[in-house]
Amino acid sequence: MTPPRADAEGLAVELRGITKRFPGTLANDSVDLTVRHGEIHALMGENGAGKSTLMSILYGMERADAGSVRVGGRDAHFASPGDAMAAGLGMVHQSFKLFDSLTVAENVVYAAEPRRFGLVDRAAARRRVRELAEEHGLAVDPDARVGDLPVGLRQRVEILKLVHRGARTLILDEPTAVLTPAEADALFAVLKSLAAQGRTVILVTHKLREVLEVSDHVTVLRDGRVVARLVTSETSAEEIAAAMTGRAVELDRVHARGTPGDAVLEVTGLATDGVRGAGLTVRAGEIVGIAGVAGNGQSELIEALAGLRPVTAGRVALKNEDITHASATERRLKGLAYVPEDRHAIGTAPAASVADNLAMGHHRTSLSSRGLLPPTAVRAHARRLIERFGVKASSPEVPASALSGGNLQKLLIGRELAHDAPLLLVEQPTRGVDIGAIQNIHDQIVAYRDAGHAVLLVSAELSEIRGLADRVLVMYEGRITASYDKDEADERTLGLAMAGARVTVEAVD
Ligand SMILES: Nc1ncnc2c1ncn2[C@@H]1O[C@H](COP(=O)(O)OP(=O)(O)OP(=O)(O)O)[C@@H](O)[C@H]1O
Ligand SMILES: [Mg+2]
Repeated sequence: MTPPRADAEGLAVELRGITKRFPGTLANDSVDLTVRHGEIHALMGENGAGKSTLMSILYGMERADAGSVRVGGRDAHFASPGDAMAAGLGMVHQSFKLFDSLTVAENVVYAAEPRRFGLVDRAAARRRVRELAEEHGLAVDPDARVGDLPVGLRQRVEILKLVHRGARTLILDEPTAVLTPAEADALFAVLKSLAAQGRTVILVTHKLREVLEVSDHVTVLRDGRVVARLVTSETSAEEIAAAMTGRAVELDRVHARGTPGDAVLEVTGLATDGVRGAGLTVRAGEIVGIAGVAGNGQSELIEALAGLRPVTAGRVALKNEDITHASATERRLKGLAYVPEDRHAIGTAPAASVADNLAMGHHRTSLSSRGLLPPTAVRAHARRLIERFGVKASSPEVPASALSGGNLQKLLIGRELAHDAPLLLVEQPTRGVDIGAIQNIHDQIVAYRDAGHAVLLVSAELSEIRGLADRVLVMYEGRITASYDKDEADERTLGLAMAGARVTVEAVD
């Protein structure tokens, strides 16, 4: 496929024939990418398609095996991100590289401080932050301590820092994965403003809505190769999805309801840090979804149920057995599986192999023999799950750290579902996962329910809650403030309840 023509002056970034091979994987296969000045260019593709690898090469973090890089019309040979920054590139990483104990202004000017008589000019630093903030609608208090800011604002500080250092092209790799929908909208306003002023944005994301809303062009990768170059205003969600997956994808499917049986999880008056008197029941063969704006106690509730946070009042029963004060391990043994929100911090062990990660917590299941895990069983188990969940790994022996973000998520879900536990607690099951894999994960969760298990789901994606849940609870300020049947849970109703509109709480059982 020939890339679109544009004179060299008109190109902010030009990658030609980029090839990158990892042991067992051709991550980028002769990729051409052209990005014009002042545009927002979306880079899409399934998990493991090679997006992050390509961006790492552009940013000097990885070296390509072949191909050339031009930035702003000049040949570039970046040996490090420092070189890339000097050429006007800036990358917003998923885990921010900020100093929590410093203020916003200190972080923004760090290592590029305005000086007066050889000293850091604090007043000038604060002024600079205010100016930049005003110019780009990046409102944030220069004197706030970064550690005290919510994630959306920390990301803003990161962007301010890059702009302060003169970045003309910003690379954002899945910036909205950790944001609430409102924070994501605010970010897009900022990106549009940056583009309107001639800066260039490369946006890696799995969310079609975002791409259609903010980008000018879309490049789609599949298996390391460019399979489509699209003009956003002339394409559709369906076309992009088909290019990514190579087949037609049914977007936002709503699954049929289940047949609830006996109560599996019964929670009454539960209180913990951030949760005030929550009550709910999840039955066998039922998916209960919890909707809410992030920060209203959903994560704390799930952590308390998983045994990771002390319960200060109330009662939790699993299959009629009191587990209010049981440890996380005891809960697992009694039949609770858990997919945490943060797959890196508590979900997986990066240095361990994919197979070992998949076997974790299986010491007392059918996989084990007298409490030990025979290597052949571990390998067979890994192969089954890799196949069932479409985890893209060159072998079960590679370390989990070699998996792309979305593939690590699939691994975690696969491992927890394989426990066949009566109760599954699952948070943000499809964060960072491509649309085809989302469909697969949703199918697997529904099948899990239909096999008679109980599922409690927390998700920031309303379409995910609506598609999966038989019943939807809304959390607001640490309480469960509403309960809806599947049919009543339309977007508007949920949105109002999530914003704290007064709703009558009937039958929040
Ligand atoms: N350090 C590494 N060692 C071995 N293989 C790697 C390494 N980094 C990436 N890969 C492999 O290269 C391929 C491309 O990975 P990459 O992270 O670029 O995908 P991605 O498109 O960003 O996916 P995602 O949407 O899941 O983030 C994957 O198959 C991945 O397993
Ligand atoms: Mg990636």
